[in-house]
Amino acid sequence: MTHADKTLELVVEDVIALTDSITEFRLRDPAGKALPGFAAGAHLRVQVAPGGIAAWRHYSLVNSDGRADATAAPSAYRIAVRRDDHGQGGSLWMHTQVKPGTRLATSAPVNAFALDDRADDAVLIAGGIGVTPIVSMAAALSAAGRRYRVHYSARHPDQLALVDELMALAGSNLTLYADQGPLPALELDTLIAGLAPTQPIYACGPAGMIDAVLALAWARGWTRDDIHFELFSAPAPDASDRAFEVELRQSGRVLAVPAGQTILDAMLAAELDPLYDCKRGECGVCQVPVLAGDVDHRDYCLSEAERGAGNVMQICVSRARGARLVLDA
Ligand code: FES
Repeated sequence: MTHADKTLELVVEDVIALTDSITEFRLRDPAGKALPGFAAGAHLRVQVAPGGIAAWRHYSLVNSDGRADATAAPSAYRIAVRRDDHGQGGSLWMHTQVKPGTRLATSAPVNAFALDDRADDAVLIAGGIGVTPIVSMAAALSAAGRRYRVHYSARHPDQLALVDELMALAGSNLTLYADQGPLPALELDTLIAGLAPTQPIYACGPAGMIDAVLALAWARGWTRDDIHFELFSAPAPDASDRAFEVELRQSGRVLAVPAGQTILDAMLAAELDPLYDCKRGECGVCQVPVLAGDVDHRDYCLSEAERGAGNVMQICVSRARGARLVLDA
């Protein structure tokens, strides 16, 4: 596992309610030392313990200081966590167990959603808690003197977080949306139709929003290199998922994978040690060779040609179409 590296032990300095469901945590080095620097789009892996079982969660680092080098050696990290009462318990643990003074084990900053701050006329699209890396991107683009626009949507205006800081950075280049209430709803097809395919897109939000942005942008001529995205949660299980069996040739094991479980989680439950990182089908770290069987690819990292060849798969999200897969794992 790549993300078990516990490199920092930080103390929670402050806990701030941003909305009814989103709380910000400010973390510092216990001795007050400067923290490792980070670039816009980076996240921290934070060790949580829902139900007393240690697990890791990824939270984007927030920076709204639009000065150059604001995040080169920060005195504190800011993360914001949306409470999900129906999730796997990590956000609930953060909301209920973490107080000022709590010690948290974290990784150093990791960036899988890097911004090209030479990008001009970029379009930043945030859905819900996906606003956290987008704020940092707005700050970095402001620091670099680049043009950009921010489109930020939530279910309800009350659930829009960090708006004042975004407004201070982006001014009239910030547009807010909400599904309910007086703000307009975000119409992605209208938004994308009004852009030029030369404008880089950076999107962070739920899977439905990311899927729609990708489909609309590809249909209108964007290249993969100009669309950057990050999901803020693992994809939800599909109601049509079925159980199947996976034979792991290297380890000589055959595992049953139930409908509500991924191959990766079945391997972890069997005390195997697969490599993984994002658990969202984005990073490619969990990829394994497929020796036999038909794969239902659900990742965001393989090309169409790679999917068609069917020789590899991302075990954190993709499943079997049939009753059995044989993997070189
Ligand atoms: S862990 Fe990142 S793609 Fe599977």
